[in-house]
Amino acid sequence: MKKKKIFLKTFGCQMNVADSEYFASILISTGDFEVTNDIKEADVIVVNTCSVRKHAEDRESSFIGRLKKFKDESKTIIVLGCFAQKAKEELKRKFPFIDIIVGPLEYEYLPEILKERLEINSLSSNIHFNIFDKVSVFVPIMTGCNNYCSYCIVPYVRGREKSRPVRDILNEIKCLLDKGVKEVVLLGQNVNSYSGLKSDSIKINFANLLEEIASLDSKEKFWIGFLTNHPKDMTYDIIKTIKSYPNISRHIHLPLQSGSNRILKLMNRNYTVEKYKELVELIRREIPDVSITTDLIVGFPTEQEEDFQQTIKAVKEIEFDSAFVFKYSVREKTKSAELPDDVEEEVKERRHYELLNLCDTIARQKNKNYINSEVEVLVVSKSDKKNVFLGKTINDRIVEICSDRDLLGNFIKVKIKDVKFHTLIGSVSS
Ligand code: 5AD
Ligand code: SF4
Repeated sequence: MKKKKIFLKTFGCQMNVADSEYFASILISTGDFEVTNDIKEADVIVVNTCSVRKHAEDRESSFIGRLKKFKDESKTIIVLGCFAQKAKEELKRKFPFIDIIVGPLEYEYLPEILKERLEINSLSSNIHFNIFDKVSVFVPIMTGCNNYCSYCIVPYVRGREKSRPVRDILNEIKCLLDKGVKEVVLLGQNVNSYSGLKSDSIKINFANLLEEIASLDSKEKFWIGFLTNHPKDMTYDIIKTIKSYPNISRHIHLPLQSGSNRILKLMNRNYTVEKYKELVELIRREIPDVSITTDLIVGFPTEQEEDFQQTIKAVKEIEFDSAFVFKYSVREKTKSAELPDDVEEEVKERRHYELLNLCDTIARQKNKNYINSEVEVLVVSKSDKKNVFLGKTINDRIVEICSDRDLLGNFIKVKIKDVKFHTLIGSVSS
């Protein structure tokens, strides 16, 4: 029988990338489906959506709108993700040609829904086949979030924190390593608050989980990454564990969000800039080659020039290895939606531009320090350019390498010659 073709379009964060891969794995495991990159030949079109900012929703709506011209009786259009959770009725009304809309809070029923709607006989759930043959694969260790940062929609669309049992995570990772995966990146909205069952009565924390994974017996060398961390949950135990195992990533994504204590309080972040800086100092003292990256929001309700200057000051002092800077976007239902969105768009734009420039300048300078050094690189993908590969260091710097040998999936030593924007340019050391 001819296999049906699935086309996947994923918006948003790494969790969505992982969810799309699970989704495709469920269908492919039936033996009746395969993935295609050509939307025109697809039998099933899947759009996995994000709701974290309005800008994402606008792009997704425009993408879904354009699907109408592909829709006919033989095609099934499925919309997943946080926007599907948040605005199911609105999406149904605006785009009546969507066949199935399922948000993260209903993912547990997804195999049943697919069985019925796509007329499939048997389906297994919770499997990850690495269908795209990746060298580095995301492995969710928990879903949801309990933090209720006042601007954030995630707790409403992904529910409360739920940690996966240790055995499930370890089994999945063992399978992936057996298939040749060289890096697993543990995912959660707040990985460092992981608390999962090791046996019926024993719960372990994130530091213990890292240890369990780092000491797995594997034929081949592998690295462990993890995303994303909340400053309030970063413990000395976690820092010590990272330091003790050379295969755990030396990259900590630690969203600061703002450099003003007044705004941090309004954001319900539960730390001060001073505490955050102490934490960064501790991490850098213990793990000297660590990269610390961050997320920052400008234009949060009531943000004055003085608050913004405190963010600038904090960024200059901390010197992040890289940073994402976002303009505040009101999300219905959240606590901060009750505050006036009173920073004018022009001002948001200006602050965004200024802060991004500062972060980029610092990041570039830090990257330049690597010129003439030798680093270990895991080659994770081939670039579109001929004979060009992309890799990453254990502290998550991107490295471009030119070679006529196939380097994909290898750990190699690379001499850094130059820096292009956020990428180190190197050549294989002889
Ligand atoms: N507006 C702007 N940025 C936001 N983020 C989350 N919610 C919002 C919002 N309403 C940012 C935060 C978070 C990152 C994933 O997205 O910086 O860390
Ligand atoms: Fe949103 Fe805060 Fe949870 Fe991150 S920690 S997902 S910003 S509520």
